[in-house]
Amino acid sequence: MKKYDPGVTPWRVAEQDFPEGAALEKILQFLLRYAILAPSGHNTQPWKFSVERRTIAVYADLSRQLPVVDPDNREMYISIGCALANLFIAAEHFHLGYKLEYFPEGDEPVAVTEFSTEEPGEPEFDDKLFASITLRHTNRNEYETRTINERSLQKLKESADEDGFCLVLIKERQIKSEVAELIARGDVIQMNNRAFRMELASWMRHNWTKSGDGIPGYAFSIPTALSFLSPFIIRSFNMGKSQSEKDRRLADQAPVLGVLGSVQDNKLSWVKTGILLEKIALTATHFGIQYAFLNPPIEVPELRQELKSLLNMTEHPQILFRLGYAKPGRHTPRRAVQEIV
Ligand SMILES: Cc1cc2nc3c(=O)[nH]c(=O)nc-3n(C[C@H](O)[C@H](O)[C@H](O)COP(=O)(O)O)c2cc1C
Repeated sequence: MKKYDPGVTPWRVAEQDFPEGAALEKILQFLLRYAILAPSGHNTQPWKFSVERRTIAVYADLSRQLPVVDPDNREMYISIGCALANLFIAAEHFHLGYKLEYFPEGDEPVAVTEFSTEEPGEPEFDDKLFASITLRHTNRNEYETRTINERSLQKLKESADEDGFCLVLIKERQIKSEVAELIARGDVIQMNNRAFRMELASWMRHNWTKSGDGIPGYAFSIPTALSFLSPFIIRSFNMGKSQSEKDRRLADQAPVLGVLGSVQDNKLSWVKTGILLEKIALTATHFGIQYAFLNPPIEVPELRQELKSLLNMTEHPQILFRLGYAKPGRHTPRRAVQEIV
């Protein structure tokens, strides 16, 4: 058997490998191979699963918190929501029914889902999203300035059309540049904080990493030799100014910026935000649209309020990203399912 390569092997999960006719528990283990391909803050993959007979329980892995950038675990629960979306999309694709309960016993588990091979019911997700699970990735390159066609934008809007949530898509130059200004200010505030840099550095990996988590330098276009030094550089030097100028330019140039917001601002709404976020990311992937996050104005509390006012939102901004066309990037590593069950 080939050695597990965390940057490659997990992304090679193939539909033909579905264990047809196997015990449900085995099938559920297979579905988790799709769940773990979800995005997560700093690629922490802050999830744990328990599989028992017909049930998957999802837990937050509190050893993977990001206390500086995400002190309330907001992004941690959003990340778990992304993994749940993949799980359900895969379940529907393979014609499994499921009944979901969020936080059935208080804080943990985050969700318990009972699966069945008998009653698939009405699908919740567009089956086209399934093929995007293994293609999706965060693309931090510069995007082309050409506009995104209206049909794709409409589909993105529809993918987040859910009670209690909103997706704001910003195309106007002036508003984009005001949001870009908030992003730049957020970068400076975060990078000024040594604890923020230490935390980020601890999740940075070099380009030949065999670690199953964290962000390899190549995801930031860092060349291999430099990628070995990048944790040291991030820890030791405050590059807030250059980072903020770069992000301002990327946000300004992107044809569209998106903000996903929710009426509630609690654990349950964060998990549900994650489900919608993954739907948006997979829909974008389906239409050949790249995306990358620019979250500092949401992560820095005083800027979150400014962003909300700037966009006249009544909802709480949860995730800020840019959308556009670019050459696809590379996948980041994932831990094997056996490590997290
Ligand atoms: C809730 C959440 C917040 C994120 N915030 C940022 C961010 O502020 N900046 C960034 O560059 N990437 C951000 N990411 C992207 C992750 O770093 C990325 O998902 C992870 O490294 C895995 O890579 P992949 O998305 O290409 O699979 C975020 C992802 C999630 C789910």
